[in-house]
Amino acid sequence: MDSIIVQGNGPVSGEIPISGAKNAALTLMPAALLTDKPVTFTNVPRLSDIKTTNELLASLGTKISMIDDGQKITLTTPEITNHLAHYDIVRKMRASILVLGPIVARHGIAAVSLPGGCAIGARPVDIHLKGLEVLGVDLDLRDGYIHAKAPNGLKGATYELPFASVGATENLLMAATLAKGTTVLKNVAREPEIIDLADLLRLMGANIIGDGSSVIKIEGVETLHGATHQVVTDRIELGTYMMAPLIAGGQVELLGGKRRILESFCQKLEEAGAEITETERGLLVARNNADIRAVSVTTEPYPGFPTDLQAQMMALLCTAEGKSVLNETIFENRFMHAPELIRMGANIEVHGGTATVTGVNELRGAPVMATDLRASVSLILAGLAAKGETRVARVYHLDRGYEKVVSKFRAIGANIERIKE
Ligand code: EPZ
Repeated sequence: MDSIIVQGNGPVSGEIPISGAKNAALTLMPAALLTDKPVTFTNVPRLSDIKTTNELLASLGTKISMIDDGQKITLTTPEITNHLAHYDIVRKMRASILVLGPIVARHGIAAVSLPGGCAIGARPVDIHLKGLEVLGVDLDLRDGYIHAKAPNGLKGATYELPFASVGATENLLMAATLAKGTTVLKNVAREPEIIDLADLLRLMGANIIGDGSSVIKIEGVETLHGATHQVVTDRIELGTYMMAPLIAGGQVELLGGKRRILESFCQKLEEAGAEITETERGLLVARNNADIRAVSVTTEPYPGFPTDLQAQMMALLCTAEGKSVLNETIFENRFMHAPELIRMGANIEVHGGTATVTGVNELRGAPVMATDLRASVSLILAGLAAKGETRVARVYHLDRGYEKVVSKFRAIGANIERIKE
């Protein structure tokens, strides 16, 4: 397993291009199952989760052609030749559940392995399943698989989600495009990735309004056709790299970054002392010698503070002046980066879903362990500011969500390398 070694190296400066969004691509690609025509994606991030999605789609009958080393992918599914999404693939990537809605809507029968939990939580899929049942799908959970049947197709209906689940919104939105009649989904997720998915589906001929708000209305159609779609910018990668000049000092320009997809996050960073300027190339972020001030953060569904940036924010607040409180309300176990940051000298107390961070003058480099995707990168950010060497083990987590992570940090002057161990 590889490790990444970071030497604290003072202020950073330079520019970083932001890639296409992992969490958009992982729902856009299954949408290609809804048609027998080619669907082409550009600005696709080159990540291990994308490779896993290609593997899964190929196992279902999708033909895949890639150019530019996978930044452009065309998916064509003349027919679904296998309706079973195998445990061996699903266990590698929970987002595989997003093939369930498209397969059962297009093909009338699906069997998808129940995704396990993961480090950050149990990650149930009950909302996905309840919504599909409301759309007329017969479900039978056995042998660790979700067996779904809709021999007469899906029927439009109204369904209010008990929680604004991103994945459930995506699964149900895709399924409803081919249902007979009107579907109204209430209390849906409002993330930019949902809008990106709706944009693709409309390009494919779907009839959707309300995406980005709490209510989405879909008029089902008989069939969908092909399309070409550029994957939206990754707001979580953007937010992650915005942290680098704030934790280490200096100034960095994030190319392709847009404030509007991270408004609440940007407001919180400015409250802590960041300077964020929109340029024609993206976002310029600086901490010009001012100290970072303690702030309190509560993670919420979009447009609130993103849970996927909580670990990165904790790393920043470890060196802020004063006491910060972080409330994690989305996942039940998303503070595993805290013990690793404490190894670097941070002062953090965790009680349930609340972490209290008291700023310290200096972090010290130490050997630490990556536990999940966003925790991993928060340790690298801490390493930028720490005195000495930080060695982050198990960095395969990073390959799931951060394209060219070492070269992007190097581009702003970080002293960072990846070693095989
Ligand atoms: C998506 O996960 C993202 N993943 C996550 O990013 C992100 O943290 C999350 O949305 C919240 O923004 C992808 O898009 C591939 P949810 P998802 O359904 O869809 C509970 C990353 O680091 N819930 O909104 O799984 C669930 O347990 C990853 O890139 C149910 O109870 O998130 C969790 O507590 C991590 N029943 C909460 O809702 C359900 O049926 C949020 O889950 C579904 C979810």
